[in-house]
Amino acid sequence: MKNIIAFAGSNSKTSINKQLAVYASSLVKDVEVEILDLNDFELPLYGIDLENEKGIPDDAHRFLKLIKSSDGIVLSLAEHNGAYATVFKNLFDWMSRIDGKLWSEKPMLLMATSPGARGGATVLEIAKGRFQYMGGNIISDFSFPSFGNNFSEGKIINEELNADLKTRVEKFQNSL
Ligand SMILES: Cc1cc2nc3c(=O)[nH]c(=O)nc-3n(C[C@H](O)[C@H](O)[C@H](O)COP(=O)(O)O)c2cc1C
Repeated sequence: MKNIIAFAGSNSKTSINKQLAVYASSLVKDVEVEILDLNDFELPLYGIDLENEKGIPDDAHRFLKLIKSSDGIVLSLAEHNGAYATVFKNLFDWMSRIDGKLWSEKPMLLMATSPGARGGATVLEIAKGRFQYMGGNIISDFSFPSFGNNFSEGKIINEELNADLKTRVEKFQNSL
């Protein structure tokens, strides 16, 4: 059976992006899903001096191995001030020091959500623009607006948005 990893670019214990990633990954049929949480990876703030003095932390290697041993990635990015949340950028930077093509051409469903009407569209565009140079293979993307109005009890409750996500998940599924 294929295995996929699903995670959020957030370290919030109540992350709405994690909730979306968990839901979207549950729609992928006939796969084993491993939900990851960035809180389980201890990574100091990236700095070139730290890298030169201490090397790359084990948990950056551990995360990269999880990517490489997966058949696909479901990722939902939190948007902070129109960009990646620090915890994600930090992981991304550390992993890029091991392998510049860190996404390893694994099929990816790339999403973002926020409480606002733009649904993290800005960070999603940044990631779409950048990941392609870093081994990214984005099969589908999805910006989910107004999380608080459209998501409840682990599910999307807006029918149109739910149908839209299902179409994108199906495309991702067919690429695995
Ligand atoms: C420092 C900071 C900056 C934020 N900037 C944005 C933003 O630029 N756009 C946006 O839609 N939401 C922004 N938000 C709100 C986040 O989208 C919201 O906190 C969301 O819950 C983050 O996702 P998460 O729950 O998965 O961590 C910001 C929140 C914080 C704490």
